[in-house]
Amino acid sequence: TDALKIGIAGLGTVGASLVRIIQSRSNELAATCGRPILITGVSARDKTKDRGLHLAGVEWFDRPEDLAEKGDIEVFVELIGGANGPANSSVRAALERGLHVVTANKALLAYHGVELATIAEKKGTLLNFEAAVAGGIPVIKALRESLTGNTISRIYGIMNGTCNYILTKMEKEGLSFADCLKEAQRLGYAEADPAFDIEGNDTAHKLSILTTLAFGNQIAADDIYLEGITNISIEDIHAAAELGYRIKLLGVAQRTDTGIEQRVHPTMVPVDSVIAQVDGVTNAVAIESDILGELLMVGPGAGGNATASSVLGDIADIAKSQPGAQRVPVLGHPAKALESYRKAR
Ligand code: NDP
Ligand code: HSE
Repeated sequence: TDALKIGIAGLGTVGASLVRIIQSRSNELAATCGRPILITGVSARDKTKDRGLHLAGVEWFDRPEDLAEKGDIEVFVELIGGANGPANSSVRAALERGLHVVTANKALLAYHGVELATIAEKKGTLLNFEAAVAGGIPVIKALRESLTGNTISRIYGIMNGTCNYILTKMEKEGLSFADCLKEAQRLGYAEADPAFDIEGNDTAHKLSILTTLAFGNQIAADDIYLEGITNISIEDIHAAAELGYRIKLLGVAQRTDTGIEQRVHPTMVPVDSVIAQVDGVTNAVAIESDILGELLMVGPGAGGNATASSVLGDIADIAKSQPGAQRVPVLGHPAKALESYRKAR
């Protein structure tokens, strides 16, 4: 079967992790997806930067728009960031060309998601964005697939790894806000402009995506009540602890009699609640719905590998959806599993 050719725009924290994972697991991916996944084009700002990646034979594009328009690819993977600029123009160009697009860019989706999804729909291609909300947690799949038929009443949770990392480190290690933020940046958790993390905008972008999927309303990131964690001091954290609470930056969206309420702000949560135990870069998303009840998903919310895991899942979904791909008939390694399945019958 022909390989699924992909182009990756952005080779930073997430892009570089993705390249490493795809290259180091090519056989396993070919087996589970039914076709090999092949990186044929990449784009980033600085061609001379040593990224420790093996890109021999992979076509380099200085401009992501050129990769989207001219690359020998079926899937355009956008890992640049930013609501506007090259991320926006290249994703648009890729969709207009009829390519599938995978993105981790919640800022782009919060402001242009509906418009981009409309182009994808018109062209009959896929726009996948599992990594855009809560990193490695498959919350988009949960909303788009698993919870189909449920009426959702509330979604809330910890959706920014950088903020949760800062609040945890301040409380448990007594480090200053500034030092914790620097460490989060070093670990690759923070946005290129970390103001988006600590002022709550990133949580608002993610919440607006979840709200639209859950409630079907127009996406409206700027209508969300917004308060970040920049004013939280160690004294605040200790005062909350004395009262039996932890401070977490929560995003909350819920159905009310007058419409969908959406807010992002630091919240005191009882120290014995599950959400209070969610520490460090871990995220947690709770979804309350009528058939299922309460679903709580907890897992890595940021970082190269956690995010690349979701991006790869989106790419694999595209590979598996192609006509001609050998679908894996049973769980496990296809050839072996099928053999034992036949024998067992
Ligand atoms: P980085 O800042 O680490 O990487 C960005 C990449 O984009 C770099 O390789 C950079 O090139 C490239 N780039 C920037 N501007 C241009 C341009 N004009 N033309 C071509 N390439 C450009 O970001 P991350 O990997 O952390 O994040 C990527 C995306 O994933 C963002 O949308 C982010 O919000 C999202 N995300 C990130 C997570 C994380 O934990 N880091 C988690 C979930 C989502 P160069 O390297 O040459 O400078
Ligand atoms: N900067 C984001 C965070 C990356 O810290 O959660 C994951 O979306």
